[in-house]
Amino acid sequence: MTQGKSNPTTSHSASLESARVLGNDPTGNPALASFVVCATDTEVGKTTFSLLWAHAQENFSPPSHRWAYFKPVETGDSDSISLRALAPSTLKIHPPVGRFQAAMAPHRAAALEGAAMPSIAKITSDAKSLRQFGPLFLESFGSPFSPWDDSTLQIELFQDLAWPMILIGSTTVGGVGRMLGLVTALKAIGVNPRAIVLLGEDAWTEGELKKRLSPIPVIRFLPPEKWTPEGLSTCARSQLEGFVTLAELLINPKHSNPSQTLIDRDAKWIWHPYAPTRLRETPLPVIGSRDEFVTLADGREVIDAISSWWTILYGHKGNRLSSEMSELALDHVQFAGITHPGAIDLAGILLESAKMPQGRVFYSDNGSTAVEVALKLAWMYWRKLDQPGRTLFVGFENAYHGDTFATMAIARHPLFTKGFEGFLFEARISPVDPEALDRLLQKESGKVAAVVLEPLIQGAAGMVMHSPETLAKIMNICHRHNVLFIADEVMTGSGRTGKIWAHEHAREIVSSDPPPLPDLIAAGKTLGGGFLPLAATLVSPKLVEVLDSDDPAEALFHGHSYTAHAIACALGAKYWKKLTMEGPVDSLRIEAFWKNRLGRLIGLPSVKEIRIQGSIAAIELALPPGYISPVRAQAVQIGLEHGVLWRPLGNILYAMPPYCTSEASLETIAMAFESAVAFFSK
Ligand SMILES: Cc1ncc(COP(=O)(O)O)c(C=O)c1O
Repeated sequence: MTQGKSNPTTSHSASLESARVLGNDPTGNPALASFVVCATDTEVGKTTFSLLWAHAQENFSPPSHRWAYFKPVETGDSDSISLRALAPSTLKIHPPVGRFQAAMAPHRAAALEGAAMPSIAKITSDAKSLRQFGPLFLESFGSPFSPWDDSTLQIELFQDLAWPMILIGSTTVGGVGRMLGLVTALKAIGVNPRAIVLLGEDAWTEGELKKRLSPIPVIRFLPPEKWTPEGLSTCARSQLEGFVTLAELLINPKHSNPSQTLIDRDAKWIWHPYAPTRLRETPLPVIGSRDEFVTLADGREVIDAISSWWTILYGHKGNRLSSEMSELALDHVQFAGITHPGAIDLAGILLESAKMPQGRVFYSDNGSTAVEVALKLAWMYWRKLDQPGRTLFVGFENAYHGDTFATMAIARHPLFTKGFEGFLFEARISPVDPEALDRLLQKESGKVAAVVLEPLIQGAAGMVMHSPETLAKIMNICHRHNVLFIADEVMTGSGRTGKIWAHEHAREIVSSDPPPLPDLIAAGKTLGGGFLPLAATLVSPKLVEVLDSDDPAEALFHGHSYTAHAIACALGAKYWKKLTMEGPVDSLRIEAFWKNRLGRLIGLPSVKEIRIQGSIAAIELALPPGYISPVRAQAVQIGLEHGVLWRPLGNILYAMPPYCTSEASLETIAMAFESAVAFFSK
């Protein structure tokens, strides 16, 4: 850069004072600072950037902390060799894994030599091994979406690595559009570039991209005037503030908007669920999602092993949701006195799947409310039948039905309800034992309105399971005592247990004809695919017949602003159509994986029990139980080290991944299970 031209980076606040300490990686983990260099196209300036970066870092990083250069695949003139000639002598350059003579797309150049591209898995593993010796900057070829081989694109390498991405663009004509196109495409698949680097004179391009891509930082550099080591070094030094800013964005989460900034602002303003005002463990800022993964603000992509609190059905959609939403002409509309196609379609599918085609669906927007509606309907049913003495509800030990007052009353979990006991209506709590329930219903004969159970799996209690036989007996006992049976399938619905509804497991066992059905079913969580809140209470024909009326005085006075959210219903109908047509095949696939893979952990000292049902696998550790046990924080950390996001329930580690989860991701979760078990066996 010549004297007299304005330095495009002078607006950055990073001082050379701070530059001097950059080598002391504040993360303590150089691995986090490794990054990939991508560009809108070939010949945009990736190698120019690499050269300037190599020279610049001499000014702010001690030798032990400098980034080493790695270009895994090269074609034509070797960049590694030209870098060797022009970069500082101290730059560490790792040789390429694939090197092909022809200056063309690497897989075509490889084919000309009768060779094949090295696999993405190999490059990922090599890059991760090299990273152990210090941070790397990995230079890519072409654009992130350039073909890697006949079936894959280069982007898959970056998704596997999950390192921060620096995008290089030029300020030549068309530069704005090319960069916007690339960033939009990357965001659509959940990849958020850490920063954009422009090479060129034109400040207008820089201004446009800053305006349109905020908060992604945009930094512009002028290219060197002389292509000699000295010329490059002078050029880098004269724009050092920009490189320092970039380095800070890479190694110090505080500056790498959004991670630390988000954490700081969260701590100021947010009160999290199941937490006091201040969290002991820092919340993980998440800025993207796709398939079975979520992207953390520091660039890591981790497997969402518990489907985001059991809500995600087939997988995360990230920004792809907006393309599905744009197919719909409707966003949201009140549901009182109005209807829409999604709600009707989904209701039909739900009732058909639950074998209650003559029943009705009452929509709401969360699982607790779906259960509350079931309780209200049970109450109304007995009033309509002139049995007002039936006011008692029976729940079970270890139950969880939600956090509203009525749902707390029928679960009475001490941790969740302790502070509110005075507000909770009277209920009876039975062990999950048919004989105990039988005795209870006998004792309270004529007083019980309904029995409420999470069929097969009591989720929040720690994936506590009972057998289909027990479930069948409980349903039969309710039938025999003429008491309504409410199946809370908020967690177990949508095939999680290997059947579309968990109560179906009992139907196969019960020999009576017709087999008893639940009188009411509460559904939520995955109902809308997991993208928007949606819940429903399925009302069996038995209740509909009694409650049927067109008298406004006999209305169910219940309705939420977002009842039957139109987009949630439309997406729900789409996913439930797939689910009911195909059956819960992925749940069964995941179940087979768990059964095959987790068996080897049985008998290890810290393993008390392994429970598997459908896509759910739970390992109960032989440690003191309790929702707020410190085991969780340690297990969360172990999970993250493997790239797995989970939230153990006290001493119970569990996974319930989305149905799209690949075998490789299941294996990663299994490894996290193994590590956690090993850790707690010590
Ligand atoms: C079985 C069961 N019922 C009800 C609920 C409450 O659902 P929500 O959190 O959507 O209110 C849950 C939540 O975990 C649940 O597992």
